[in-house]
Amino acid sequence: MTVKIAVLVSGRGSNLQAIINSIEKDRIKNAAINVVISNRTVAYALERARNHGINAVFLDPGKYDKTGYDRAILDVLKQYDIDLLLLAGYFRLLGNEIIEAYRYRIMNIHPALLPAFKGLHAQRQAFEYGVKVAGCTVHFVDEGLDSGPIILQSCVPVISEDTEETLTARILEKEHIIYPEAVRLFVEGKLKIEGRNVLLLNRVTDQIHDQTGTDFTD
Ligand code: GAR
Repeated sequence: MTVKIAVLVSGRGSNLQAIINSIEKDRIKNAAINVVISNRTVAYALERARNHGINAVFLDPGKYDKTGYDRAILDVLKQYDIDLLLLAGYFRLLGNEIIEAYRYRIMNIHPALLPAFKGLHAQRQAFEYGVKVAGCTVHFVDEGLDSGPIILQSCVPVISEDTEETLTARILEKEHIIYPEAVRLFVEGKLKIEGRNVLLLNRVTDQIHDQTGTDFTD
């Protein structure tokens, strides 16, 4: 059976691209991205979707109130009979109706080691705080801000020569590794949720090794 995936985006879509590539290269088997939905009409992510023959939908937030917008997203998810919803650089909060309808079936990528540095500009927050280790997190989405159960994390060292930009780029490389990996684990039924803990079934180690991460993006 194919797991049907929808991806919500707002911008560049490099994480979307990493997941598309993983599916096309059969690193993630039995999954398809059926639709990409953006709240911004100019999002390059929409173009990436079209380049790969994926339905690309712009939903204009200006046309709905908050509840109406979430219903419009839900309608698209139902239309495509979606099993798994991925937030990939989606810069709006999801409403409770979607979260309830897709409990433990919505994932988000966040460019910090949660629970530190939630919200916007996470890499800048970490850089300005002066951390020595930064990173990224894939987590299930719940009603809170960046607060759902953590699926995978990857860390990167912060070095003296770093700027916010170099650190952001190094974190992004790790995002492109752990997001497809989290999707793979979901699709293969290898995530078991016990309260806040997401257990990774049948893995020798919870460590994500870098060799799984080459060549994920354009
Ligand atoms: C990524 O770094 C992602 O982690 C971040 O936005 C970027 C989107 O890049 N998301 C958040 O900060 C959400 N809180 P992309 O569009 O190239 O995937």
